[in-house]
Amino acid sequence: MHPSESIKCEKSDLLKDKKLALCVTGSIAAVESVKLARELIRHGADVYPYMTDSALKFVGKDALLFATGKEPITELTGKDEHLYDFDAILVAPATADIISKAACGIADDAVSTLIFANLEKCIFVPSMDSRMYNNEILKENIEKLKKFAMFIEPKMEEGKAKLPSNDLIVARVMNYLRRDLKDKKVLVIGGAGYERFDEFRIITNLATGKMGIEIARFAYYYGASVNLLIGLHSVDIPEYIEYEEFGGIDNLMQKIENMKGYDAIIVPAALPDFKPEKREGKVKSLGDFNAIEFEENPKFLKRLRREYKGFLIGFKAESKISKEELIRRAKERMEEYELDMIVANLIEDVDRDSTKAIIIFSDGEFEEFAGKKEDLAKRIVEIMAESL
Ligand SMILES: Cc1cc2nc3c(=O)[nH]c(=O)nc-3n(C[C@H](O)[C@H](O)[C@H](O)COP(=O)(O)O)c2cc1C
Repeated sequence: MHPSESIKCEKSDLLKDKKLALCVTGSIAAVESVKLARELIRHGADVYPYMTDSALKFVGKDALLFATGKEPITELTGKDEHLYDFDAILVAPATADIISKAACGIADDAVSTLIFANLEKCIFVPSMDSRMYNNEILKENIEKLKKFAMFIEPKMEEGKAKLPSNDLIVARVMNYLRRDLKDKKVLVIGGAGYERFDEFRIITNLATGKMGIEIARFAYYYGASVNLLIGLHSVDIPEYIEYEEFGGIDNLMQKIENMKGYDAIIVPAALPDFKPEKREGKVKSLGDFNAIEFEENPKFLKRLRREYKGFLIGFKAESKISKEELIRRAKERMEEYELDMIVANLIEDVDRDSTKAIIIFSDGEFEEFAGKKEDLAKRIVEIMAESL
């Protein structure tokens, strides 16, 4: 078995059975292509390397042969290497030269001819000095190519247009290739809501935001256009997820009007049930603190459902009750709020990375889950994709 086989699907099977050409061109970032190829393979892709002559000055053929298990294609022969069938052609790094050649329809080596024959399947990831990247002719060429092909924006850093992280490139490739949620707009509302009781201090909860962030990540992997509304969180948000922060219930309520255009909304947020009356400055004494009055917050999901008619998934966390009682209360909530699905769990079954949960469908059927939060997120997104 070739070493590339041993890492196949190590991270996921989301690119399984996808045939990708990885075109490496003559940027110094070509040295990153070995790691990029292997990351794509870890998600299941079959990666076929193509290299320009300039790329060969930066990275050897053997490095990409080792990385992918496939002999790199560096020239055109009677085998018609430019007409091989691929699901996508990832040009990473893409030099100013290859971009401009592609925009002008030049096909004079294996890489440029493969691109010429399959422009609508190409994903370009430019990498070069910012003086080159800001060249007006290159900008025009990029605009011209964007009518046919996809571009992943480089990371502007140290005066350079650098390759973004492999994480981001792989996520974009999945989002481009997967059809499960193609053309669907998904909103995830996650994290811990909070309410202020003075200018400096808040009441909140211990939610990490992980569940919402993982659901947003998988919805993106499955091809959706994703927005994340996130409260307090102690888990990093992937750089490819667009997000906005929210604080308390009032803040969320104001955003409902903008939520109507989504195909699905998923709400694993832990929202505060009570709101303290807010004091000016800083509450100084225990007496003043004890005098703070609380009022009950309106139920966000209920209000959202009144305005929003699309696919809506709620979450219900309870504590110290039996499984049967948890299911009963979750079903009651689902009916009252007219949810399409609800995910219920007991707080004592949740830790930072794993959880037990019961996924309950609108027809009353349910399935039980125990495992990593990311696997639960994947399952929820799969069910949603089947339902939309
Ligand atoms: C050390 C070195 C680093 C280079 N880095 C880049 C780069 O990051 N991006 C780029 O567009 N060109 C870069 N070039 C210039 C390209 O290698 C050159 O334009 C070449 O013709 C590209 O050929 P290709 O597009 O066929 O691979 C670099 C050249 C050298 C010598």
